[in-house]
Amino acid sequence: MLSQETAPEATGSATTAAAFLRLLRSRAVVRRYTDEPVADALLAELLDVMPTAPTAANKQAWAFVAVRDPYAVRCLRAFAPGMIGLPPLVVAACFDRDRAVREDSGSQDTGLLCVAMAVQNLLLAAHASGLGGCPVSSFSRTAVHRLLALPHHLEPVLLVPVGHPAAPVRPSARRDRDEVIHHDVWTSPTAASAGP
Ligand SMILES: Cc1cc2nc3c(=O)[nH]c(=O)nc-3n(C[C@H](O)[C@H](O)[C@H](O)COP(=O)(O)O)c2cc1C
Repeated sequence: MLSQETAPEATGSATTAAAFLRLLRSRAVVRRYTDEPVADALLAELLDVMPTAPTAANKQAWAFVAVRDPYAVRCLRAFAPGMIGLPPLVVAACFDRDRAVREDSGSQDTGLLCVAMAVQNLLLAAHASGLGGCPVSSFSRTAVHRLLALPHHLEPVLLVPVGHPAAPVRPSARRDRDEVIHHDVWTSPTAASAGP
């Protein structure tokens, strides 16, 4: 198994932290791309950071298919109404049922959460590299399963088109922090504004 880099040089510096926070705040989905391909070296880096995401019980119940063949990309897009522009790269992020970790209640596959975390790594790495992407859940599972020749235990969860943004990246609005972030216990917004 590959080991991940040890952290000390990569963390702890105020400059690194400030740059990373800026990166997080400036991300937005990118749905339209230029024709420029994603260079091999860059693709290798993007793919490399996906499986460094947190993963329940370190089961790594995921698999990824990077699709760059233009015809294959067009085929995927034909079965993905949620994919707007034509990207030079699509990463299909899949859940591996054979490695699933079930919660005690049996109601949730934590593997799905792991896949989402890996996709967030991909999106942030793409953004940091001047690329952009978009998680796409609106697609035909059956068609994508067939197009990618996936074995039965792999379930495509998200398609992630990635490419060079065709327009400047602009973060979209979010709900008020006070509405969504609470401290210690949940407080109703009206109680909070009324004061003690
Ligand atoms: C699980 C998930 C599924 C999504 N599916 C689609 C999709 O099918 N098509 C699409 O254009 N955007 C999709 N998005 C992107 C959201 O629309 C986008 O994140 C949201 O509008 C907020 O924009 P922002 O990420 O730029 O802040 C999806 C996002 C998530 C987290």
